[in-house]
Amino acid sequence: MSPTEFSAFLASRRSTRDFLPKPVPRKVIDELLTDAMTAPSWSNTRPYMVAVATGEVRERITAELLRRWEVAAKAINGNWWAKVMFVLRGDALPSSDYHVYRPYPKDVLPRSQKIGRDLYTHIGVPRGDRVARDAQWARNFDLFGAPVALFIFTHKGLPTYSASDAGLFMENLMLSAHARGLGTCAEGALAIWSTPVKKEFNVPKQYKLLCGIAVGYPSGDKVNAFRAERLPVADITVPER
Ligand SMILES: Cc1cc2nc3c(=O)[nH]c(=O)nc-3n(C[C@H](O)[C@H](O)[C@H](O)COP(=O)(O)O)c2cc1C
Repeated sequence: MSPTEFSAFLASRRSTRDFLPKPVPRKVIDELLTDAMTAPSWSNTRPYMVAVATGEVRERITAELLRRWEVAAKAINGNWWAKVMFVLRGDALPSSDYHVYRPYPKDVLPRSQKIGRDLYTHIGVPRGDRVARDAQWARNFDLFGAPVALFIFTHKGLPTYSASDAGLFMENLMLSAHARGLGTCAEGALAIWSTPVKKEFNVPKQYKLLCGIAVGYPSGDKVNAFRAERLPVADITVPER
């Protein structure tokens, strides 16, 4: 593969947000994981773990995440009493290992707002249409229809570098999937509630849920033609003094 072809391949990977129900053979998932393990790692420690959810396990986890999301969305959209009851009931309160819902710093907030605006405009969801927005949000918890969820855990003892290593692992995995005609979507949304995942997998106590990745075959839906804008390299280059 020439450098130009490689650049084009990298640029052609985009998040998939609508999948076909077609199953992904276990052999293919194992190939993705093997490719992911070729990523560099801090002192070669590989301080991450991955849980593969398919079939009934996937169904149980997504059903519980969706249930929690519906309870949370009702409280978010409801009056003060709905919010108080949400807290008192407690069963759908976020149980994330990381602060998934922490507000964005002021300098990067506009980038996040832009991607939200652009994506919703692309799929035709008007800004004020809360019902349609909530429905689109809910799709996160059903993996956008993907048959496979990979849950990525990082080691508590190496906080920053385990997350950095997991990122490298994830990018390799997503590119390997892309090379096989599979789509992926990294999802912080899948880490808002970690208990439904930990109920299904024996996660060692020193590991925290970082995020999930939906994996499957992309559908022809319009959402998959969305192209998130890229910042110019100059915007992330530190200037000399
Ligand atoms: C760690 C991580 C978490 C993400 N969480 C979500 C998510 O919860 N839902 C979603 O639709 N996209 C999520 N994304 C996808 C990003 O929005 C997407 O990568 C970004 O907009 C760039 O678009 P592209 O992947 O199509 O190039 C996440 C990406 C990363 C790396």
